[in-house]
Amino acid sequence: MHTLGRMSALRVLISINIMVSASTNSSLMDRQQRSFILPVEANTSLSKPVDTKAVLSCPPITQKAVLVTIRWEIILRDKPSCTRAYRRDTNETRAINCSDKTISWDSRPDRNPALQIDPVAITHDGYYRCEVVTTHGHFYHGYHLKVLVPPEVTLFQLENGAIVCRAAAGKPAAQISWTPGGDCHTVEEPLGNDTVTVQSSCRWEDHRVSKVSCSVSHLTGNTSLSIALNQGVIVLGFPPSTLLIILYVKFSLFLVILIIVGFIYFQRIKDCRA
Ligand SMILES: *[C@@H]1O[C@H](CO)[C@@H](O)[C@H](O)[C@H]1NC(C)=O
Ligand SMILES: *[C@@H]1O[C@H](CO)[C@@H](O)[C@H](O)[C@H]1NC(C)=O
Ligand SMILES: *[C@@H]1O[C@H](CO)[C@@H](O)[C@H](O)[C@H]1NC(C)=O
Ligand SMILES: *[C@@H]1O[C@H](CO)[C@@H](O)[C@H](O)[C@H]1NC(C)=O
Ligand SMILES: *[C@@H]1O[C@H](CO)[C@@H](O)[C@H](O)[C@H]1NC(C)=O
Ligand SMILES: *[C@@H]1O[C@H](CO)[C@@H](O)[C@H](O)[C@H]1NC(C)=O
Repeated sequence: MHTLGRMSALRVLISINIMVSASTNSSLMDRQQRSFILPVEANTSLSKPVDTKAVLSCPPITQKAVLVTIRWEIILRDKPSCTRAYRRDTNETRAINCSDKTISWDSRPDRNPALQIDPVAITHDGYYRCEVVTTHGHFYHGYHLKVLVPPEVTLFQLENGAIVCRAAAGKPAAQISWTPGGDCHTVEEPLGNDTVTVQSSCRWEDHRVSKVSCSVSHLTGNTSLSIALNQGVIVLGFPPSTLLIILYVKFSLFLVILIIVGFIYFQRIKDCRA
């Protein structure tokens, strides 16, 4: 992503140079070019899944420039800002306020001044900025790091028949959708450590629905789970409620016939006695 930022910075420089050379003479152009190339600053946003390794790189140094210092400034929420610096002339590194052992130079800063976070944790959300000081000026690249936590997805049926799809402890909150759509109720519960549990419980009025799928979409990847609807005994394709009505009607008819037969029987006995 930062390559993109760098590319656009380069494009701006190129277009400025074209404008300058088209309208002025060479001595002026040299002066303009120098002032435009100097401080180059860009920010990019970066998303990383928790428990992976992240490597943040510094702006590259142009061939003619000579490195003086590299400084990483790390600003995390609820922590003092930490600074890691490397001085080329003395070949020394320094760290101020840096207590987190999982954030370090990627390799030897004299070779590669990138910063490494290994493993990435939820507390690493923040702003990381590399400042490169060279004989040709200062260059900055900032990263807004957002740590992602994949949710744990489960799908189950409650005793009352509702189907529940749950995406637990995801960061950011996951999105839940159903196929086919049902009568759903979705709630989000923040867990305090920036993760959120999303739970959607649904019912389907249409009794022809025999299987439903829950799709969970998240920046760390999408998941889909299916479950067969358990709606009691289904006889001859009739759903339970229809079946009950049929049984009831049949039973009522049987009762009426029984009463009529009984009545006729007693009438006969009475007639015989008489
Ligand atoms: C360049 O431009 C400046 C002012 O714009 C002028 O004084 C100078 O003579 C020009 N130089 C040449 C080589 O044309
Ligand atoms: C980069 O982000 C930092 C922190 O949010 C902000 O202070 C700075 O102005 C931004 N720089 C650019 C060039 O957008
Ligand atoms: C060290 O932490 C203090 C207190 O939060 C802060 O004021 C200071 O700027 C930090 N120093 C560096 C070099 O980041
Ligand atoms: C810088 O210091 C490291 C050890 O701290 C050493 O291995 C390396 O050779 C030094 N580099 C230069 C250019 O002096
Ligand atoms: C966030 O908090 C919840 C509830 O305490 C816990 O289950 C989960 O593992 C935590 N997640 C992380 C990434 O620390
Ligand atoms: C996940 O699903 C969303 C929409 O539901 C889609 O935009 C995205 O591209 C999907 N991501 C992956 C990695 O398949």
